[in-house]
Amino acid sequence: MNATSDNLHQVAIPEPFTLVVFGASGDLAHRKLIPSVFKLWCDGLLPEQVAVIGYARSEKSQQQFIDELRESAGNAFADQGVDFPQNKWKKFAARVSYHQGGYNIAADFESLRDSIKSQAAAASVAANCVFYLATPPDAFVPIVQQLYACGLSRRGETNPWSRIVIEKPFGRDLQTAQTLNAQLGECFSENQIFRIDHYLGKETVQNIMVLRFGNSIFEHLWSHDNIDHVQITVAESLDVGRRGKYYDNAGALRDIVQNHMMHLLSLIAMEPPVTLTPDAVRNEKVKVLKALRPIPPVCAKNGVVRGQYTAGTIGGVKISGYRETENVRPKSGTETFVAFKVYLDNWRWAGVPFYLRTGKCLQRRCTEISVHFKRIPDVLFNLPPYGPLPQNVLSIRVQPDEGITLEFQAKVPGAVMKIEPLKMKFDYKSSFGASPPDAYERLLLDAALGDATLFTRSDEVEAAWRFVAPVIEHCSQDCCSMISEYQPGTWGPAAADELIQADGRQWYLG
Ligand code: NDP
Ligand code: BG6
Repeated sequence: MNATSDNLHQVAIPEPFTLVVFGASGDLAHRKLIPSVFKLWCDGLLPEQVAVIGYARSEKSQQQFIDELRESAGNAFADQGVDFPQNKWKKFAARVSYHQGGYNIAADFESLRDSIKSQAAAASVAANCVFYLATPPDAFVPIVQQLYACGLSRRGETNPWSRIVIEKPFGRDLQTAQTLNAQLGECFSENQIFRIDHYLGKETVQNIMVLRFGNSIFEHLWSHDNIDHVQITVAESLDVGRRGKYYDNAGALRDIVQNHMMHLLSLIAMEPPVTLTPDAVRNEKVKVLKALRPIPPVCAKNGVVRGQYTAGTIGGVKISGYRETENVRPKSGTETFVAFKVYLDNWRWAGVPFYLRTGKCLQRRCTEISVHFKRIPDVLFNLPPYGPLPQNVLSIRVQPDEGITLEFQAKVPGAVMKIEPLKMKFDYKSSFGASPPDAYERLLLDAALGDATLFTRSDEVEAAWRFVAPVIEHCSQDCCSMISEYQPGTWGPAAADELIQADGRQWYLG
């Protein structure tokens, strides 16, 4: 075990290591990664001797880099409502350095290797490494190949160890994902590769397995016998912002469905794993993705609703239309909203529709999974004048206002029999006294501990593409005519409502 503690009830502390962040001048490094490492370090969850090296091409001095990080870490702590520990920052900043270099320049990687070795030797610790690839995807392969060429990938070696954490998007279709897997595999072993999807680091997402397999009341209801349908909504109120160049080549299907939504779907639908080891869990998740019924071409045109936001306002704030966004093609056919229905062809879920929708510039930010139980028989209270009664719904609020709600029927107190739906609620803040920590904290810690449970395995990423890529391909054939416009601040195009209403159902948010 790569940890100094094997007590399951205590958080394990990783062995001393160097974290190298490629793309250290960028948004992710500043907004999420460095603040998360600092927070872990302040909480005593990282070894005192941890070293952090920011690697990027931009010219900047060590002091400039530290000053920039101080500002972004300050903002991140403020966003979480946490006081910034200035004294600890001074000690932490002494462990951070900036290494200017190209992503395909051998000499720059050789000097990186020498810095890692000399810093580790000075601290009398092994030169273990976590390489975090926080660059756009074009740089992934050159970085990995340079790490291999200069001897830092240490394929198959366990002492000192090295691991890579690789950001999304992982490929843009099945073929490019397979090629990327093969290229990574030439330089690192699969157990050294940590494909990150920050959704898996969210407490509420980790809790899906606990809810299902840590309680006896749900599992025997969890199938086509009792469940009518399942909905997954990933709604954002933000627009594409400054990410036009990336987003216009991705769209909602690549940006959210292929990764975040496929993980939510597989966790909600998977069979109980035999153990909680990374492979046992991921084996079951892959089986769900393999059971996804392909959406036939005709449905990809008629049954998949794609939308694009127009100009408008959200909460009084003016929003430019998607096509007017910087670096977006003026006649772009890229979807900023998508909704569709899918089936899992396996025993448990036979005949149960899963409705998925995601979009930018929607009415509010909300990620939620709702499990809708079957209607009660048309007798007793399900007849007039009391019924028909709504179905029971279990909704898992991934974010914000994280929690779980169960909707059920109750008699309104009084002399007449009147029945109304009520909600039984659990929310993280009132039960645990705080909002859950940022997902990157947990994922960085797990990568340093070598625990890959919350990371995507190569076959998992390929199985997700096998389902999503054909949908993208069919939809893009006569793209512009297939896109429905929607106003910012709504729930997407009317066609998304028609999609679910055609089955006699409604979109639901608990
Ligand atoms: P940025 O565009 O900010 O890029 C990060 C850094 O990479 C830049 O500062 C730049 O550093 C370098 N870079 C930029 N363009 C290129 C290029 N074409 N080739 C090589 N290097 C380049 O990206 P983010 O920080 O936003 O994201 C990094 C990765 O994380 C991406 O893969 C993204 O998809 C993923 N991601 C980001 C999220 C976010 O919230 N930002 C969320 C989820 C995933 P320099 O020029 O100094 O070398
Ligand atoms: C990223 C997407 O993976 O997830 C972004 O690239 C999106 O487009 C973001 O905004 C949403 O993350 P979260 O944690 O805010 O739901």
